[in-house]
Amino acid sequence: MREGTATPVRRQDYTAPAYWIRSVELTFDLDPGKTIVTSRLVIERNLDTPPQPLKLQGEDITLLRVQANGESVSFRHEPGLLVIDNPPGDNFTLDIRNTCCPDKNTQLSGLFSSDSGLFTQCEAEGFRRITYFLDRPDVMAVYTVTLRADKKRYPVLLSNGNLLEQGPLDNGRHYAKWHDPFRKPSYLFALVAADLVAREQLIRTRSGRDHLLQVYVRRGDLDKTEHAMNSLIASIIWDEARFKLPLDLERFMIVAVGDFNMGAMENKGLNIFNTKYVLASPATATDTDFMGVESVVGHEYFHNWTGNRITCRDWFQLSLKEGLTVFRDQEFSMDMAGGPSARAVKRIDDVRGLRQVQFPEDAGPMAHPVRPDEYQAINNFYTATVYEKGAEVVRMMQTLVGREGFERGMTLYFQRHDGFAVTCDDFAQAIADANPGSMLSTRLETFKRWYAQAGTPHVEARGRYDAEQRRYVLTLSQWSSPSAQQPVKLPYVIPVVMGLVGPEGQALTLQLEGEYGHSGTERVIVIDDERLELVFVNVDVPPVPSLLRGFSAPVRLDDGLSDADLLTLLRHDSDAFNRWEAGQRLALSRMLAAVPGAAPAVLDDALVDALRAVLRDPSLDPAFKELVLTLPTERYVAEQLDTSDPQRIHAVHQALQAQLAERLHDDWAWAFEHHQVTEGYRPDSEQSGRRALANRALGMLVRHAVATGDAVWPGKAYGRFKEAANMTDRLGALAALVDAHAELAAPALERFHTLFKDEALVIDKWFALQAGAPETADGRVFTRVKALLKHPDFSLKNPNRARSLVFSFMNNPAAFHRSDAAGYALWAELVIEIDAANPQLASRLARLMERWRRLAEPWQSAAREALARVAAKPNLSDDTREVVSRALE
Ligand code: ARG
Ligand code: ZN
Repeated sequence: MREGTATPVRRQDYTAPAYWIRSVELTFDLDPGKTIVTSRLVIERNLDTPPQPLKLQGEDITLLRVQANGESVSFRHEPGLLVIDNPPGDNFTLDIRNTCCPDKNTQLSGLFSSDSGLFTQCEAEGFRRITYFLDRPDVMAVYTVTLRADKKRYPVLLSNGNLLEQGPLDNGRHYAKWHDPFRKPSYLFALVAADLVAREQLIRTRSGRDHLLQVYVRRGDLDKTEHAMNSLIASIIWDEARFKLPLDLERFMIVAVGDFNMGAMENKGLNIFNTKYVLASPATATDTDFMGVESVVGHEYFHNWTGNRITCRDWFQLSLKEGLTVFRDQEFSMDMAGGPSARAVKRIDDVRGLRQVQFPEDAGPMAHPVRPDEYQAINNFYTATVYEKGAEVVRMMQTLVGREGFERGMTLYFQRHDGFAVTCDDFAQAIADANPGSMLSTRLETFKRWYAQAGTPHVEARGRYDAEQRRYVLTLSQWSSPSAQQPVKLPYVIPVVMGLVGPEGQALTLQLEGEYGHSGTERVIVIDDERLELVFVNVDVPPVPSLLRGFSAPVRLDDGLSDADLLTLLRHDSDAFNRWEAGQRLALSRMLAAVPGAAPAVLDDALVDALRAVLRDPSLDPAFKELVLTLPTERYVAEQLDTSDPQRIHAVHQALQAQLAERLHDDWAWAFEHHQVTEGYRPDSEQSGRRALANRALGMLVRHAVATGDAVWPGKAYGRFKEAANMTDRLGALAALVDAHAELAAPALERFHTLFKDEALVIDKWFALQAGAPETADGRVFTRVKALLKHPDFSLKNPNRARSLVFSFMNNPAAFHRSDAAGYALWAELVIEIDAANPQLASRLARLMERWRRLAEPWQSAAREALARVAAKPNLSDDTREVVSRALE
């Protein structure tokens, strides 16, 4: 159903539901062409609200019958609604029968077909595409579900909770009946009817209870489920140990499906996953994929408490569950990674993502607070701001009250709200109340501006050293740019973890004026107003401030440090995050200096020497070295500029890469030889760090060889590609050839395709690698993408495949931002085509153009024209309409 005239939904307009649904009995006669849904709802009027009609949501479904208390009742339709003006009293049962069509459901929301069977996705508003309901998260009911289907085609029938009974029916059909004892909102409902097999594991948790864990996949994929199962077990153990949150279900199921819009979904007891985040074997998945499986399995499992046991009152509170659960999965992955260095590597990865995706979002037309004030299409608000910035807000709370204080806060949160649908205020209040006297509790209202104000705050820091007085005065100030909806921004509470580093790299003791005794070498400073002045005493040497360690707040920091200061931090900072950050800033400043002119970018000796020192330092982890030796991305560079010329940034980036390859040539060769993993494959941080560094080194060596006409390293890369014992090394070697446009890239790509033609997730990598390669002056990547769109393996219908080629290409700045606008024309065409089938996917693609105002000419005008072309299309979905119209506003 396309309304096209969606009025925005506003947070301030929230009212409690006029009716409650206490229990739901659903019966499904499953058929891909036409499924019959029978629903019996036990309804109770909410006596706190005035008497009013019962309005149930429904979308793309056909009503067959409706009865109240077993008798006919008069009803009418409004757009998207079934209205019963006069329900029979305050308590009644409603019987509804309707049909839906899984085969025609190309949106993948509601009940849809995939090649292995029938699956559901109900968050946020998919349940109404299955049957009429009060499809809002504050209406929670107990569900009993009967599934009936052809036994041969759909041998596995699953729903939430516990299996009550199952058995044969006539005509080759069978049935299964499920009951979920936990009250839940409709968005957590799920069913699966498919031809799948399961890896099973029985576990006994600390409490002595037994649980059955299952991972369901297609028949041929069972050998790729071990890591998902291990990750699930690790998640269960971790949540019990860290937050005292046990598994509350007898049975916990994960089901993998190849057609899925998102990563995965936390349906109670029946998580449904994109295959990308379940299937992993050393031969088909990279180290990054293994990490992705671990974190998404953790994420969905952790939702069982933060999301399911306590859910959101309304969708504006989405970050209540998402920000908190991302924080929890980040902490889980860090704890799994191991020591301080591996933790820092994970943190750097997370911050890179935040700054590359969320910061631009916060500065663009889709900017919104962590708790948005309005939306047109709720699916557009599953964003980096709600998820990743939301996680940073939770992390700041933990920094302000300490790790134990935070755990106390979580305990109080569950004591107060378990079983209910609540708000972000309730969460912040619980953490604060469990920590009286903390900066969170005394400054709670100010702190909560992080939920209410959009945009990334700026922090400026300036230090003055007085040798005579042995004092160091540090002045910190904050400001935030106004935005359309919020012309005036108020100051935030900003925790700044800091240290002072001496000229020889020593960590200085931090003693503030008026304090007695020593106070350690690291502390949390809290800015809670526009300006803060700190006076450190007994400072014997001029210090370099190391601020915002571990990226303790999601802000843009301007600390005015000189190159010499940054080199000191890069060499010596005890905080690995800031060490990395210093290196990035040194590289970034070289790039930014070169971008405006026509002069070539130059990597100076000081920086080259510092990078070499990191690469050769035996005390540092390979994974950390790899991050330090990776230049900031073109996209990140573009974001630092008010107006950007994507082709010039690409040229500068390429020039610096070439110099890095050349000047560290012998060091790269050394790094490659000395970081080989010869023992059996383990996806842990130690081994994957060595592989990451060796692969980066190989990339550099091949790049340099191709530039100088040398054939040795490309030959070595090809050999490594052929002989590789795992996907990380195979793909690493292939990428080295493809990214350098080596002649051997073509035969390697062909061989790779032949080897993995039946592995959908690997073929996705094959498309993505080609679409993401550095563009050449003669546009080879773009030409390749045009050809690949016609490849027999390509299809826009499968979201993973569409993302692998189309999204990878459109995230490849120099290939996409062509001066002849051909990239934009393709974008407009594909947004329109995808939108007709799958609005959620289309609006994600549409968003890749939202930063168009930052582009220099001729790109800016061409981008506006492409956006206008999409906006002019009638019948655009609400999702895509919202994105393009906000972009053009
Ligand atoms: N709750 C899911 C997760 O974060 C994501 C569901 C997204 N659904 C959507 N329609 N956007 O794990
Ligand atoms: Zn989530």
